[in-house]
Amino acid sequence: MKRAVEPALDLTVPEVQPYGTTVRALSALQHSEPVIEVLNQILGDALTLRDLYKKHHWQVSGPTFYQLHLLFDKHHEQLADLVDLIAERIQILGGISVAMGADAAELTRIPRPPRGRETPAAQIARLLAAHEILIRGVRDGARVAATHGDDGTNDVLIGGVLRTNEMQVWFLSEHLAVAPPSECA
Ligand SMILES: [Fe+2]
Repeated sequence: MKRAVEPALDLTVPEVQPYGTTVRALSALQHSEPVIEVLNQILGDALTLRDLYKKHHWQVSGPTFYQLHLLFDKHHEQLADLVDLIAERIQILGGISVAMGADAAELTRIPRPPRGRETPAAQIARLLAAHEILIRGVRDGARVAATHGDDGTNDVLIGGVLRTNEMQVWFLSEHLAVAPPSECA
């Protein structure tokens, strides 16, 4: 006689560390809560921008389809690496990083795009606007980290997140240039 399979996992078990709490992780750094909070905000925006690239990778159309299809996917992969860097920095500091899309959607300052397909120009404009929001948050976050003597976070934000985002903005914005800049007289 067959026996019903019992679920092995008890989903009522309490969390071992609730979101928003901090454990002492790096002894040299105390009072990391403000840094962790700003990192989670940046993470919410970075997760959203990462997914926005995948949406545009799938939905892009027109004569520049192939190059934008590849470019959007390349930027998506770079943002996936940055997301990992930010999330693990939060954990290193003893915090809890947001992880799920639903949590990122609640947290992000990037406006929700329509589900439908947009023109390539509108896709690029939307991506540039999202980068601007993320970059502003990264600059603010770096200042918070510096205030708390957190050089590691400062390096993650400036050397990692900011530099990559500025490079991505350059690659995107060149697609909107209608003609080369005129030469200086
Ligand atoms: Fe793909």
